[in-house]
Amino acid sequence: MTGKSLHPATLTAQALGWTDASTGAVILPVHTATTFVRDPDNQYRRGRGYGRADNPSYDQPQALLTALEGGAASLLFSSGMAAAAAVFESLGRDAQIVAPQVMYWGLRSWLKNFAEAWGLEVTFVDATSLDALRQAVRPGRTRLVWIETPANPLWSVTDIAGAAEIAHTAGALLAIDSTAATPVLTRPLALGADIVMHSATKYLNGHSDVIAGTLTTAREDALWRRIVAARSGGGAILGSFEAYLLLRGMRTLYPRVERACRSAQRIAEALQAHPRVSSVLYPGLPEHPGHAVATRQMIGGYGGMMSIHVRGGAAAAVAAAAQVEVWKRATSLGGVESLLEHRASIEGADSPAPPDLLRLSVGIEDPEDLIADLATALNLAE
Ligand SMILES: Cc1ncc(COP(=O)(O)O)c(C=O)c1O
Repeated sequence: MTGKSLHPATLTAQALGWTDASTGAVILPVHTATTFVRDPDNQYRRGRGYGRADNPSYDQPQALLTALEGGAASLLFSSGMAAAAAVFESLGRDAQIVAPQVMYWGLRSWLKNFAEAWGLEVTFVDATSLDALRQAVRPGRTRLVWIETPANPLWSVTDIAGAAEIAHTAGALLAIDSTAATPVLTRPLALGADIVMHSATKYLNGHSDVIAGTLTTAREDALWRRIVAARSGGGAILGSFEAYLLLRGMRTLYPRVERACRSAQRIAEALQAHPRVSSVLYPGLPEHPGHAVATRQMIGGYGGMMSIHVRGGAAAAVAAAAQVEVWKRATSLGGVESLLEHRASIEGADSPAPPDLLRLSVGIEDPEDLIADLATALNLAE
């Protein structure tokens, strides 16, 4: 398939329509080889020498992601954290980075505990405010602005086009963790971002059975070449079977995300009316501070992630979580099954997650079952 005139949902369902040239198989084989034969004249004309640098099982998922994001190239990594770390590692020492105060806590804590020790200077800002971003960048000194939108766990929204303009004016690049938005709902590169990262563990795979990460670049420039070298040199590579499972999961990305969005909107509206819920944080609600920007930059839905504030504080939130039966009490997100968690418990002492907050990842079950289960759990926790 050329992909030029086809809807991304079609490209995704058929994984670009690739078939195996030698057998006609509609699913490509999983390549397990760690090494590749040299030509007699000592060259590697087929382009591959060793499995840590390159793996044929990555070609199709990487090409599909590149098509979905509208980028120049993509890389699979062994986890979302490995993908993000490869970007920061590749910036070089003494770089100043701007990052959001509200972001995936694991990456925030890695930036605080490791990146600074390597000589990167990280400035955390309120990334929902373009003024705050503008004040945080230092022209000629800032190398990278990192944003996440919608961002864990408040689902704060950053204006991607505005952030790109600020980063570029300062001579910096914009990288974005688009895990919660997915390529279905947001195309960050078209809005001016330079690099898109996903924890493919979440919606891209969608079945809570693979840990993986991805990066997609707008250009195959010098930084991208350093990132490619960081993956093969550092060795944060995905296994061949995991790459196969990831592609299998990606084929149903569109229907999964579309259903999760529709259910999430319905669930958010229902929970707003529950007496034990003091507020619902979901970009699809007009009351959410990021609603207007999300409406502008998200396509066809606001995602499957939301959080609720439970009346009665941390104890009431934990007690409600204890009562659910259909929702599973577990961390992570973006799977076909709905998950719920008391975020402050996992993030630890220095967490900015409010103590009364439960994070919800809406799956593809019947939304009325999900609403009834959570409403009962909130009532029982009284
Ligand atoms: C938004 C976001 N970014 C990055 C990560 C890290 O990804 P991984 O767990 O695949 O390393 C996560 C994981 O929860 C996440 O939710």
